[in-house]
Amino acid sequence: MHVSVLYNEVLDWVDPQPGRTYIDATLGYGGHTQGLLAGCLPDGCVLSFDQDATAIAQARERLGAAAHHLTTAHSTFANIGIVAPSLGFGQVDGIVFDLGLSSMQLDTGERGFSFRFDAPLDMRMDQSQGRTAADLVNTLSEADLREIFWRYGDEQQGRKLAKVIVDSRPIDTTLALADLIANNKPGSRHRQKTHPATKVFQALRIAVNDELGALEAGLPAAIQLLKPGGRIAVISFHSLEDRFVKNLFRDFARDCICPQQQVVCTCDWEQVLHLPRRNQAIKPSAEEIAGNPRSRSARLRIAEKVARST
Ligand SMILES: C[S@@+](CC[C@H](N)C(=O)[O-])C[C@H]1O[C@@H](n2cnc3c(N)ncnc32)[C@H](O)[C@@H]1O
Repeated sequence: MHVSVLYNEVLDWVDPQPGRTYIDATLGYGGHTQGLLAGCLPDGCVLSFDQDATAIAQARERLGAAAHHLTTAHSTFANIGIVAPSLGFGQVDGIVFDLGLSSMQLDTGERGFSFRFDAPLDMRMDQSQGRTAADLVNTLSEADLREIFWRYGDEQQGRKLAKVIVDSRPIDTTLALADLIANNKPGSRHRQKTHPATKVFQALRIAVNDELGALEAGLPAAIQLLKPGGRIAVISFHSLEDRFVKNLFRDFARDCICPQQQVVCTCDWEQVLHLPRRNQAIKPSAEEIAGNPRSRSARLRIAEKVARST
């Protein structure tokens, strides 16, 4: 059985209605898309993005007859502002983002996302293009690797690990990289809750898929596509993404961006979003975490386009 993270919370907020139009920016295995379709059929429609062609094929198969009412785009949601209007979704009533990896991607060993399986170091969500994790590990400078480990993984031993990696190249498989880190990271020999390579793997995955760049391009463009009164829900799984979503929502909810000490407003800024929970994140319940431990780091933020906004 497929379990979508924060499913009820997302669907309660977006509240899909018959005849209306929705976008799921991250189709995955189609859980949230299924809920959007169930709410908007028979005469509404849904456009779902995924940059992973396998995810699209599997979700369409899983959705069965409902997939006939679904438009899919094999594209990064970074291009949502161009792709959605070109497919007839120029103004929509609701948008869902459920960021990061799917369980299918994590649990398919040959995709190279996990050190639980020995496989080529790939990590691309879109396997039709772009540089693999092996490309980065084997070609980037020590300084660039260190920066990636620090920025995207908050890896305190990034300096040492970048040097060890550069000295040990080429490194082509998940286990070769995981073992190298385990053998060289201080404290790795002691029993730990998480594998010593967890942060490096996360950092490489974020870099390979330009996950923050996609969000920085895609989220403002998605807000642009919302009709007045349209609703957006964004689930993120690490603090870098969540901080970006929180700050963007906060800025779009302001009605003035003049410096605080300025008495008369001179900016032309108009409030774009209304934040019903004062920008507080919604977290999974204890029951949800018990049933699906991968949901534990999920944070959902919600917003509504203000009625007078264009
Ligand atoms: C967490 S899963 C989504 C699960 C889905 N909500 C469900 O209920 O089944 C995230 C999906 O988003 C896709 N994805 C991640 N970043 C993307 C991007 N920038 N553009 C398009 N798809 C992306 C991944 O390939 C993955 O299939």
